[in-house]
Amino acid sequence: MDKMNIRKAAMIGCGFVGASSAFALMQSGIFSEMVMIDADHAKAEGEAMDLSHGLPFARPVKIYDGDYDDIVDAGIIIITAGANQKPDETRLDLIHKNVEIYKQIIPEIAKRGCEGILLIVSNPVDILTYTALKLSGFPEHRVIGSGTVLDTARLKYLIGEHLGVDNRSVHAFIIGEHGDSELAAWSNANISGVRLSDFCEMRGHFMHEESENRIYEKVRNSAYEIIERKHATYYGIAMAVKRICECIIRNEQSILPVSSMMHGIYGMKDIVISMPAIVGKDGVENVIPISLDEEEKMQLKRSADILTGMKEMIKKEHGIG
Ligand SMILES: NC(=O)c1ccc[n+]([C@@H]2O[C@H](COP(=O)([O-])OP(=O)(O)OC[C@H]3O[C@@H](n4cnc5c(N)ncnc54)[C@H](O)[C@@H]3O)[C@@H](O)[C@H]2O)c1
Repeated sequence: MDKMNIRKAAMIGCGFVGASSAFALMQSGIFSEMVMIDADHAKAEGEAMDLSHGLPFARPVKIYDGDYDDIVDAGIIIITAGANQKPDETRLDLIHKNVEIYKQIIPEIAKRGCEGILLIVSNPVDILTYTALKLSGFPEHRVIGSGTVLDTARLKYLIGEHLGVDNRSVHAFIIGEHGDSELAAWSNANISGVRLSDFCEMRGHFMHEESENRIYEKVRNSAYEIIERKHATYYGIAMAVKRICECIIRNEQSILPVSSMMHGIYGMKDIVISMPAIVGKDGVENVIPISLDEEEKMQLKRSADILTGMKEMIKKEHGIG
């Protein structure tokens, strides 16, 4: 195998999410090479051309369309290929279509002996990360889902707006399934070390439960609301993809709520779900057992049970696992 080039990304799927993520990555300057791959080859070619024309305004990166032979030395392989949610569809409705697509893509990666990190973005992201893990045979730390990184960004944004404080000073997580059963871990949320409820009162907000419910529902329904208006979501996830790639390439060891394989934390085993984790050059280093109250533990269990059910279903219907 060619020596792995940590500064090389492969983007498999060049639709709204793949193209927007490539655009964000191109501007970040973290990669020196990016190959664009899509079942619709003309689409990959067109995106590579369009992106390349912005290069005189960015840092050097070679962007080109290619095929699976071009991904062998990629440090990160990002998969955004697959159907997206239609209005009134849940992320889980996509499962059969996208598992079938992953059954085509992942063996192409596995048989080339790639040593890079697989970053799964297509939905339902947790089940597809599990599928990618099983079909690739890659070590667990090298198969990551974007998980609730986007949902957590939405949560931070909304809390920041509510309190009139920079959203980067907000420390809070959405965990669980990237989907309808996700939960906000309110009990450990804080604004730069100040308990959320204390900070709210400092800013003149006293209806804690009502505000938390309203913000949580807004986060959970964001994708539906955006899809209803513009038929797809892509800029938020593109920034989340950029953030995860930065952590890996720069070995930041930042804590991000990515989706990864569980080994007993809060009783969750052999499922892929989002929990805060240290992300660095080898992918997921450690899952962090953030403190949860009893109600949150129950919600997390419900979310994990839903994913366990989905896992059993794809085993039965698609032979995965
Ligand atoms: N994880 C997240 O937070 C998040 C956020 C937004 C969207 N998504 C998901 O990302 C995925 C892509 O969404 P989109 O809006 O870009 O969809 P899209 O339809 O615009 O693009 C999908 C692309 O995948 C390509 N494709 C299909 N089958 C393929 C195959 N076998 N090999 C290579 N390419 C293939 C298509 O040609 C198309 O270009 C969806 O599953 C969507 O639900 C995830």
